[in-house]
Amino acid sequence: MNKPKSTNTAESGANSMWGGRYAASPSEIMQRINASIDFDQRLYRQDIAGSKAHCEMLIAQGVISGNDGAEILSGLDMVLTEIEGGDFDFKTSLEDIHMNIEARLKELIGDAAGRLHTGRSRNDQVATDIRLWVRDAIDSLDDQLKSLQEALIIKAEVHAEDVMPGFTHLQTAQPVTFGHHMLAYVEMYGRDRARLSDCRKRVNESPLGAAALAGTSFPIDRKMTARALGFDRPLANSLDAVSARDFALEYLSTTAICASHVSRQAEELVIWCAPQFGFIRLSDSFSTGSSIMPQKRNPDAAELARAKAGRIYGALTTLLVVIKGLPLAYGKDMQEDKEPVFDATDSLSLMLAAMAGMVSDMTVAPEALRQALAAGFPTATDLADWLVRVLDMPFRDAHHVTGTLVSMAEAQGVGLDALPLAAMQEVEPRISKDVFSVLSIDASVASRTSEGGTSSELVRLAAAAARERFL
Ligand code: ARG
Repeated sequence: MNKPKSTNTAESGANSMWGGRYAASPSEIMQRINASIDFDQRLYRQDIAGSKAHCEMLIAQGVISGNDGAEILSGLDMVLTEIEGGDFDFKTSLEDIHMNIEARLKELIGDAAGRLHTGRSRNDQVATDIRLWVRDAIDSLDDQLKSLQEALIIKAEVHAEDVMPGFTHLQTAQPVTFGHHMLAYVEMYGRDRARLSDCRKRVNESPLGAAALAGTSFPIDRKMTARALGFDRPLANSLDAVSARDFALEYLSTTAICASHVSRQAEELVIWCAPQFGFIRLSDSFSTGSSIMPQKRNPDAAELARAKAGRIYGALTTLLVVIKGLPLAYGKDMQEDKEPVFDATDSLSLMLAAMAGMVSDMTVAPEALRQALAAGFPTATDLADWLVRVLDMPFRDAHHVTGTLVSMAEAQGVGLDALPLAAMQEVEPRISKDVFSVLSIDASVASRTSEGGTSSELVRLAAAAARERFL
């Protein structure tokens, strides 16, 4: 088992936080399974903010004296400075961030420190801390998603005219514009942002003051602490306040869905920069070499962005399983919420940074995009639509006639637009030379002007609208 170097497990004696009833110290194994300080030290800022809000409220309500309160507040600031300066000795024997901070506060200011925990429990304290942490994480992921959208919109504007195959089943389907493809991801990331912001509403309610589970007999003011910490309101039920973790599940679900989008886009980058496609090139900054094959330019960042979705799904699954079947109110199982939340956040943040970096970095190859449209008869639908529109054929018959023409072109090794008119007329005598007006790639793309369609003109408008909606 790794122990961080700053952690001191050697302490002995009963824990001073509940020492009254305990004569002996916990076994080494007990400490190891119980302690969360290795990971929950990331909550120090939120923990101190929560303690300060609680302390100010206790003073205002006359629960503790102004003098004691002032000492606690300045002591908490000292603790904050120590932690931020890297001068804080986190101790495993003190189990978690809450008790590490309180113990240090006592060393710094003496007995007044003992009054801070009045009307509070670690149960409402930790629920408060993690909600504040998740709220910050949501805000910073939102910023990152916005930057990624901006990078995509810029590429969409630059490549609004560049045609490429649109795929279904990863087979050439119909021509689309590269800009249109970029804007599809802008929409997906836009919904991720909307999900985060919706989830934020349920995260942003205050558990503080629920105490252990039942509330407290002290005349606390939960609205005051909620306000001080930027929460929208106190959670209504004290049992729920300490035991609810659905906010974290919702957050993890949201990160998981967002990761699925990053992963899908990453997969496309992997495909697109393979030499067989050659649609894009990533610069040296976003490519890696091979130790044996000198010619290789591997898209490792895209592959890792594709893969990391797996650990985020794992985080969601972990917490779903931890929470399942837990009786009210608090159980120590809930301590297991933190690592999945931290890991999913770190992973997604890195994925988004890498994706934004790659999107800005990639050089698009318009000639390769167009060249890829030479195979696969991408204007077959345009031909069928022409038969419907001009010859008034039912679409099913037009589909059949077009299929016959496609096999003819395939047999001759040419595209649909290179089939002689006479050959087409053998299949359907009413076909006129006007049909060639719809068989070119550019005509096809230009004709896709229905709302949300791929024509360059619509893509330019959509990019401008996306700037308004998202940036
Ligand atoms: N470290 C604990 C957690 O993360 C804090 C709450 C402990 N509460 C308790 N009753 N033991 O959940």
